[in-house]
Order: sequence, then structure tokens, then C-alpha cells
Amino acid sequence: MTLRYMPDAGRLYGEEYARDPQAVYAELRRRHGAVAPVEISPGIGAHLVIGYQAALEVLTNAGGVWSKNPSAWQTQLPDTPEAAGMIAMLGYRPSALFADGAEHARYRKVASDCFALVQPHKLRQMVIEVSDSLIAQFAAKGEADLAADFARPIPLRVFNLLFGRPDSDSATLSKALSDMMEADGEVGKRGSDAFSQYIGELIQSKYAQRGDDLTSWFIDHPAGLEGDELVQSVVLVMAAGFDPTSSLISNAISRMVSDDRYYSSLSNGALSTYDAVMEALRAEPAMANFGPYFVRQPVHFHGTWIQPEELVLVSYAAANTEPTNVPEELRSDGGAYLSFGAGPHRCPVSDPALLIAVTAIERLTSHLSDLELTVPRAELPWRPGPFHRSLAHLPVRFTPIRPDQPGDSPWAPHSPSSSTPSGPIAPPSSTSYVTSAPWSS
Ligand code: HEM
Repeated sequence: MTLRYMPDAGRLYGEEYARDPQAVYAELRRRHGAVAPVEISPGIGAHLVIGYQAALEVLTNAGGVWSKNPSAWQTQLPDTPEAAGMIAMLGYRPSALFADGAEHARYRKVASDCFALVQPHKLRQMVIEVSDSLIAQFAAKGEADLAADFARPIPLRVFNLLFGRPDSDSATLSKALSDMMEADGEVGKRGSDAFSQYIGELIQSKYAQRGDDLTSWFIDHPAGLEGDELVQSVVLVMAAGFDPTSSLISNAISRMVSDDRYYSSLSNGALSTYDAVMEALRAEPAMANFGPYFVRQPVHFHGTWIQPEELVLVSYAAANTEPTNVPEELRSDGGAYLSFGAGPHRCPVSDPALLIAVTAIERLTSHLSDLELTVPRAELPWRPGPFHRSLAHLPVRFTPIRPDQPGDSPWAPHSPSSSTPSGPIAPPSSTSYVTSAPWSS
């Protein structure tokens, strides 16, 4: 019997899962232990690794027993819209996420070398300017959907600028990425195609004229990426960066505005923004189950036989919340547990991602200090999809502030939208946030 047709597989789709995934993980843990059969879409099965220790074993043995190459799995999938959507997310691309060994090291080095050139204080300034220009668009209204109006546009606009693409393109990019991330049949496939086309055009424009931006550095990096591998490396970094960072921002804000320990911190500093971000990472990691791995030959793993054509997903969300006897002070992960992965494929950009999230939230709460949810947190809607944990909407209200009020405000002089608080998004005042690459002439 193939994994796909196991009768008691847990479902990582549907309303019940979106409402309370932790209840689904708890039930799977009770019935199956560290590794459980699941369906990620109707008729598409996977082994979900839900035990913390088991997850670490997979992650730290990547490139050995465990491979990132999905080829054997994807070639036997049925020709259905559901399968097409899953291939859009998990199918092989020549980039770090789907490669092992030397191929992986080469792709990964391009991403880490290029991001290392982005200076933290300049990135921080960029996030401040983007955050303020977004806050200025809703601050006078007294209400906002912080998922749509704040958390999603922030990484998108920051990435657009870092990769050297104009702000005016951010709506196209946003649509392509959100369709792709839902991984929902034809929509997921369409989003993936639109996103690849967008990146293709970006790269062509940088071949024609280099700038001081990540795309130009990717092109000129000594690893010599060309053609599809260059496109896919940029695709990976944008897709891997945008969605989890925006989800992290909204998940953390939703905690801060619904939990008194954080709420009071807005005025008297009980727990910090960083604490909220760490707690969101542990309890609701944005990349909830996006840890695809494969075996090269049949492997017996924590009581389950796994075949080369089968998909294994490391569940960061379930592993992080497994009841454990390990004392907090013995952990070396700063409280984020496995949210950024572990081993050779651990997120290479976790520090910039944290900087973006913490800076954006601090900016928001420094301007609007009495944010409150308009519905109880338990009733907030979550986006469907097996891979992420991400709020669809985050409706809040607050005391409105005005452009002409005295003191620090989102309309202050450094803000690009100081004179047009409700107009179209203006680009930040300076776009040179990066140093020059040592390999550029
Ligand atoms: C600036 C934003 C970010 C960028 C550019 C980025 C980029 C990347 C890249 C390129 C990889 C692939 C590394 C490899 O395979 O060697 C990766 C992996 C990963 N990232 Fe990030 N990331 C960002 C933010 C985040 C955030 C906010 C989270 C979680 C909350 C996250 C979680 C992960 C995880 C779990 C992996 C490992 C996936 C696996 O094991 O297959 N990342 N990231």
C-alpha cells in the first residue's frame, strides 16, 4: 500500500487544520509517535516528522542519508491540479534548497556571500523608512488590517529594493507570490509561473545595466551562476524570504496585542518585541512544515519504512512544541527552536530576517501604542496551505494620529511619504543600502 492511500493519514489541509494545526499534530503524535502519515493535499501523501529528536536527525544528516533532491518523488505523482500545485512548491529547481553536497554548497555560498554585503544598520534604516511610509497610510484612520497593510508589504518592498527592482512592481510580485504560496492546484502553478517570469525580467534588466543590488551581485558572483540556475537562485531567495518574514511579523504582532505580558510592554517594557518574535517562532513557526527531504534507498526511521519515491516533511511547528524534558537553559537556539531549520540547509539569512521583523514591529508600536485586536485572537483567520502558518488578516484598532501632530511620527522628515500619507507608496529616500561586492570592478 502506498503512503498516499493510508486510511488514517492526518490532513494538512481543510478548515480543521487551518484553525488548529497543533491539535492535529498532537493527535498524530498520540497515534504514531515521531513520524506520522499525512496528506498535504487530497491524494498526496507524506511522512511528517513531528518528533524534535527525529527532526534534528534528518536535518543534521542532510546530504548523507537524507537528500533534498525531489526527482524520484515528483516523477511518480499523478497528472492532477493538486499535484501540479505541490510540484510548484517542492519540485526540483537548480538552487540550494533542492541540492546536496558540492552543488548545494555552491548555490548556498552565493546567497550567503551576497546577503553578507547588506549592512545591518543600512538594512535597519531601509526597514524604518518602508515601515513608516506604510504606517503613514493608515495611522490617521484608527484601524488597519496589519497583515495586508503592514506585514506583507514590508519584506516585499525591502526585497524589491535590495534586488534592485522599482517599488511600482511590488503589486505584481505580491500577487504571484501569494498565489504560489497557497499551493492550491492551478492557482499555485499560475503563481509560480508568474513569479519566474517576474524574476526573469529582473535579471535581464540587470544584465543590461548592473547596479549596487543583490541581483547584480548574484550575476557577478565568482560561482558563475548562469541561465536557469541564476533565475532559480534568485527565485529561492525571494520566495524563501518574503513569505516567512511577513508571516513572522504578523504572527508576532498578533501575540503582542492579545497577551497582557506584551500589551503592557508597549508602555512599560514587561516583555520585548524580540521576546514576541521568539515566541512566535517557537509556537507558530512561519515555515511550519516546509522541510522537504528524501531518502536514496529504503530507510527504517523511528518505526516507519520510507521509500525513495516518498516525501518526508520535517514539521518545525510540531517538533518545536513536542512535550520535552529538556530544561530551557540547556537550549542553544535562543528560544527559536528549529524555526530556522538546522544542519547544512539551516536558513542562511536568519539574522537579517530577525532584524527586519523586530525593526518593523518596533516602528509600528512606537507610533501606535494602543493597538488592539477587533476580534479575539482565537477567531483570527489563517491562510490555508500545508507548509506555512500565516494569518490571512490581522484587524486592529488604535487611537488615530495625525500628520500635523508634534513629535516623532511616521510622517517625520526622513519618511518618503511625509507629504502624502494616503497616496501611493513612494520609494524610500535613498536606495543605496548595500556595499559594493569585492568581486565587482
Ligand atoms: C530575509 C529573509 C529570508 C531569506 C532571504 C531566507 C533565505 C533562505 C534560503 C536561501 C534558504 C535555503 C538554504 C539552503 O537550502 O541551504 C532558507 C532555508 C530556510 N529558511 Fe530562510 N530565509 C529568510 C527568512 C526566513 C524566516 C523568517 C524563516 C522562519 C521563520 C526561515 C526559515 C527557514 C528554514 C526553516 C529553512 C530550511 C528549509 C529546509 O530545511 O529545507 N527563513 N532560507
